[in-house]
Amino acid sequence: MATVASEALKEPTQVSGLPVLGNALDMAKDPGRFFYDCYRKYGPVFKLKVMGNTYTVLAGAEAANFMGTREGRDSLRSKEFWQGLVNEWGAKRTLTGEDGETHQKLRAVMKHGYSKESVKGRYDELVTITDQVIARDWPVGKLVPVVQNMQYIVTEQLGAMLTGTSPREYVADIRTTILYILNILVTRQRPKFMLKDPRYKHAKERVSELGRRMIAEYYAGKDQRDPERRNLVDDVMEAHARDPDLIPASDLILSLTGPFVAGLDTVANTTAAFIYAVLKHPEVHKRVLADADALFARGTIDEADFRNLPAIDGAIMEAMRVYPIAVAQMRTATRDFAFLGHRIREGELLYVATAVPHYMHEFYPDPDKFDIDRYAKPRAEHLKPGVYSPYGRGTHTCLGKTLAEVQMALSMARLFYDLDLELESPDYELQTKVLPTPGPSMKFKVRVKGRRH
Ligand code: HEM
Repeated sequence: MATVASEALKEPTQVSGLPVLGNALDMAKDPGRFFYDCYRKYGPVFKLKVMGNTYTVLAGAEAANFMGTREGRDSLRSKEFWQGLVNEWGAKRTLTGEDGETHQKLRAVMKHGYSKESVKGRYDELVTITDQVIARDWPVGKLVPVVQNMQYIVTEQLGAMLTGTSPREYVADIRTTILYILNILVTRQRPKFMLKDPRYKHAKERVSELGRRMIAEYYAGKDQRDPERRNLVDDVMEAHARDPDLIPASDLILSLTGPFVAGLDTVANTTAAFIYAVLKHPEVHKRVLADADALFARGTIDEADFRNLPAIDGAIMEAMRVYPIAVAQMRTATRDFAFLGHRIREGELLYVATAVPHYMHEFYPDPDKFDIDRYAKPRAEHLKPGVYSPYGRGTHTCLGKTLAEVQMALSMARLFYDLDLELESPDYELQTKVLPTPGPSMKFKVRVKGRRH
């Protein structure tokens, strides 16, 4: 792509918008659909204005593929978008904001702790945690807030599995901290003065306290840690001792509380979308229940059981296609480069809109239909290059992907096994939110009709 003569390159079209807000309102309604509409109208490269900043959007399957190429790796970096978070915590760096060699080293340190290997053989434990939270937060006869309840399930699971600490009494603080940080410092859709809000300051202090507690507990029990149950805390703390330049003391809290930032909204929003879509489609609901009942009929679960959940897996994949939590990845151009005949200049802020193909009939026939059989062979519609990117693309592709897959399959199987759920009314249509991460509205509720098991 860089071989096009520089004078032949086009300038990306500026999408028209309001004088001050620019395209912020369109983005605020439904960023995924907005990027898709712009792609249809302006092609794979266009410019947006959002709250005074100009962004160049690279959209579609070509853009998704570009992120995984050598040229893409050399032309894009993540630093600017995460620097505010790093500064806010007085840290030196964070995994998501690094590129190149340091990023590779950090990924290598955290790879095991973030993978499904970290939960291998602990599925029954995961079920017990899930049951406890369900018994507490999903009372029979009540309408319950789905996203919030899923946030509690996710956080307790991640705490126990990845860090060995149940952060139960910190969940509300983790949620508040993430909300402020993503809105204000990462996506920059809220003004900076909001960081002075005492509610945020208190919540952030509590998350620091959780981090300090994790570090203190690690040092206190360092010699008795079970090698069979190594987790992210062991990996990060040992890497800190071995290579304090790579992970200095200033970065420990951010690194150890990272799983909550990475997993909370992503898994909670996706599973909430799953719950809506499954309840909205009775024939899918029936198949999900059959998968769940078969999974738990044997009493104990092992690795192989996860390969035999066709309806649940299909519904998770379809929830991530139709309701992607990452409609675009935010980057900065590290140098001048050409993309599909357009000039991109060093320093430009970029959105790489990798979810645009999710809505395209060229790749997904009848794209608005929630069709859980798209992914099984021979159809396998998602396997065309660049058309399915729920976990991002390129060097920063989700490090927790395999873990998230297990976590979501198990949580959805258990929830539907335990409970008889229904939408508020059969004609209920899902309301969505955009901040801090796109997904179902916090107001989305379901009724717990009864217990199935
Ligand atoms: C539905 C579930 C999830 C989705 C859709 C998802 C999606 C993503 C996406 C799109 C990125 C790339 C961001 C970028 O390129 O800027 C990412 C990165 C990441 N995710 Fe996930 N994620 C999910 C769950 C999780 C979970 C459960 C964890 C672990 C607890 C996790 C850990 C990470 C980490 C550590 C990164 C940073 C990787 C890096 O910068 O090298 N994710 N995720």
